[in-house]
Amino acid sequence: MNILLTGGTGYIGSLTCVGLIEAGEHPVILDNLGNSKPAVLERIAAVTGVRPAFVEGDVRDRACLDELLARHRIDAAIHFAGLKAVGESVRLPLPYYDNNVHGAQVLASALHAAGVRTIVFSSSATVYGDAKTMPISEQAPTQATNPYGRTKLMVEQMLEDLAAAEPDWSVTLLRYFNPVGGHPSGLLGEDPQGIPNNLMPYIAQVAVGRRERLTIFGDDYPTPDGTGVRDYIHVLDLADGHVAALRHRCGRAGVRVFNLGTGRGHSVLEVLRAFEAASGRRVPYVVAPRRAGDVASCWADPARAERELGWRAQRSIEQMCRDTWSWQLANPTGYPS
Ligand code: NAD
Ligand code: UD1
Repeated sequence: MNILLTGGTGYIGSLTCVGLIEAGEHPVILDNLGNSKPAVLERIAAVTGVRPAFVEGDVRDRACLDELLARHRIDAAIHFAGLKAVGESVRLPLPYYDNNVHGAQVLASALHAAGVRTIVFSSSATVYGDAKTMPISEQAPTQATNPYGRTKLMVEQMLEDLAAAEPDWSVTLLRYFNPVGGHPSGLLGEDPQGIPNNLMPYIAQVAVGRRERLTIFGDDYPTPDGTGVRDYIHVLDLADGHVAALRHRCGRAGVRVFNLGTGRGHSVLEVLRAFEAASGRRVPYVVAPRRAGDVASCWADPARAERELGWRAQRSIEQMCRDTWSWQLANPTGYPS
């Protein structure tokens, strides 16, 4: 199949692109390079032996999409493109609604006009807000607590409305938990610009000497060691989840929602210790007050994805740390410009 990957040079998109090529599919990337570098394409080629088709452009640019869809006979789209920093979305909501909501609307309209009826959307566990019971199943109530989360919920709802109005659409909403890690070759990984917001890249930058120490946001949560618990999932498992979702869902009409997580939670201190073991480096830290908006615990019930997609996360927290470290060591300042 020819698969359009919007945001395909980004972190999750690039590793999913590798998974799709290895599965014999033909990805076509559309990315505006707002948060990624062209060097990613050479790295994908180095890992797979195939340089994916690439169009530099914006999902909000309808003419660009129409041209891409006319040139490549696209069978399905995976929509990764978007902005993803929660704190930034609170300060700058309008670019988030524009990129994430308007972008998805333009994409869906262009796909529709081109006769493409299969879309897989990158949603997030953030749509569960402060869930009351763990693990979180897809039936748990949704509730966004910040503009980023609201954009994810709005796009989910827009695609549900579309599938209700036009029953030949196949819509798959994938709610990712906490993607971490990179390709074991060290060639592809997460390349945050500026100070990382997320735990794993921050720890990796401390271990490699780019930052002095980790700040742990709160050690007084109602968790076994007092620090926040999350469902970290290896990005290669996430990539496999997309391949499974496409294979299973392509041509099957209607909307289906899947959690992509491991079903296991790890605390901040557990991740830190696992990273120290994987890297052989000490990771100094200080404890500070809780970060606004953080929940104590969040982990998935991934049973539906296992049952319906035949997919299950395989990789351990040790491997997540090892592969993050390989990437960080080989690329201490990220991808070359
Ligand atoms: P990323 O920033 O690495 O990748 C996103 C890519 O989209 C970038 O290459 C960026 O240049 C591109 N892009 C952004 N706006 C665009 C536009 N208007 N037109 C074309 N390209 C555009 O992010 P990621 O971590 O790979 O996340 C991918 C998707 O998964 C996002 O939608 C994100 O919200 C979602 N998600 C990510 C996480 C996570 O922790 N990384 C968790 C849950 C959900
Ligand atoms: C983040 C996003 C969330 C998204 C999720 C999955 C924020 C506020 N939320 O949440 O929308 O769905 O990723 O990708 O960005 N921590 C520290 N020190 C740090 C960084 C993090 O102690 O420097 C702690 C946090 O308090 C939390 C855990 O580490 O307990 C994980 O944090 P993070 O990696 O930012 O992920 P989420 O909080 O789950």
